[in-house]
Amino acid sequence: MLKVWIAGSAGQIGTAINQVLDPMEMEVFNTDKNELDITQTDEVLRFGEINRPNIIINCAAITDTALCEQEPELAFRVNALGARNLSIVANKVGAKFVQLSTDDVFDGQRQQPYTEFDLTNPRTVYGCSKLAGEHYVKEFTQKHFIIRSNWVYGQGNNFVNRVLEAADQNRPITVAAEQTGSPTSAQDLARIILYLIRTNEYGTYHATCKGMCSRLDFAKEILRLSGKTAELTTVPSSSLDVSETRPDYSVLDNFILRIIDVYDMPSWQDSLKEYLTGDASHLA
Ligand SMILES: NC(=O)c1ccc[n+]([C@@H]2O[C@H](COP(=O)([O-])OP(=O)(O)OC[C@H]3O[C@@H](n4cnc5c(N)ncnc54)[C@H](OP(=O)(O)O)[C@@H]3O)[C@@H](O)[C@H]2O)c1
Repeated sequence: MLKVWIAGSAGQIGTAINQVLDPMEMEVFNTDKNELDITQTDEVLRFGEINRPNIIINCAAITDTALCEQEPELAFRVNALGARNLSIVANKVGAKFVQLSTDDVFDGQRQQPYTEFDLTNPRTVYGCSKLAGEHYVKEFTQKHFIIRSNWVYGQGNNFVNRVLEAADQNRPITVAAEQTGSPTSAQDLARIILYLIRTNEYGTYHATCKGMCSRLDFAKEILRLSGKTAELTTVPSSSLDVSETRPDYSVLDNFILRIIDVYDMPSWQDSLKEYLTGDASHLA
């Protein structure tokens, strides 16, 4: 039986991995900040050496982009040094290592999807700290999967749940006019992670649902599929506070997944339909 350690297990993606994995196939060690703070180097090493997982999945991070701008030291401590600590222990116990990362490592200034081979150029503290985490993973482990995704939603605070809440409370919804991305459900991201960890196809991956849309079209589809209504308006990204200020163009090209041709991500619309209605016919 594979032993899998999920750090940051209470977050959106950690929760989704727990929902889609088969507990008959894997023994799972779930830890979040309360059980094991990934910035505590000695504790992280001790936990890994005692439990000796075959696979470590790092879902722990400071993902609040506004908080990262306010507290860059915290962002780098968790997103960079935390990833380093888990990488060191993965290397020590011979485990495969999965590092979740983000489109925020790019500057979002162009109008063409970014491949894994495009040059990174983060503009935010969040993006810089996540890129530093990627570098540590490459420095300290060999058997790694760095998986960058985009516009992820699952159980937690995310765009889909904010739109639903605003509609329920009859509040108007304001979205950034320029933002384009590929909405990706945490469960579909979890499925590709669980697929990749069974392979030896190490390296950096872009893994988002297929297709792209504007924030406005994303909000419209959320309302349509949930049968709710709300007033939608667009404003320039620059007029929104930093928590909403993300790269304008966040589209990732799943280039490596496409050329190894072993795994097909669903369309963002099918993925959203499963999340909102439970209709998973696209998986059949
Ligand atoms: N959501 C997205 O759109 C998206 C897109 C691309 C990539 N990613 C990446 O995917 C990963 C997971 O994202 P997510 O959406 O699941 O994030 P999330 O919901 O914010 O979950 C992160 C988890 O990490 C925990 N954590 C924070 N500091 C910690 C520490 N020092 N030690 C241990 N745990 C700690 C958090 O606890 P608290 O909540 O108590 O702080 C939270 O439970 C992150 O690396 C993120 O950068 C996310």
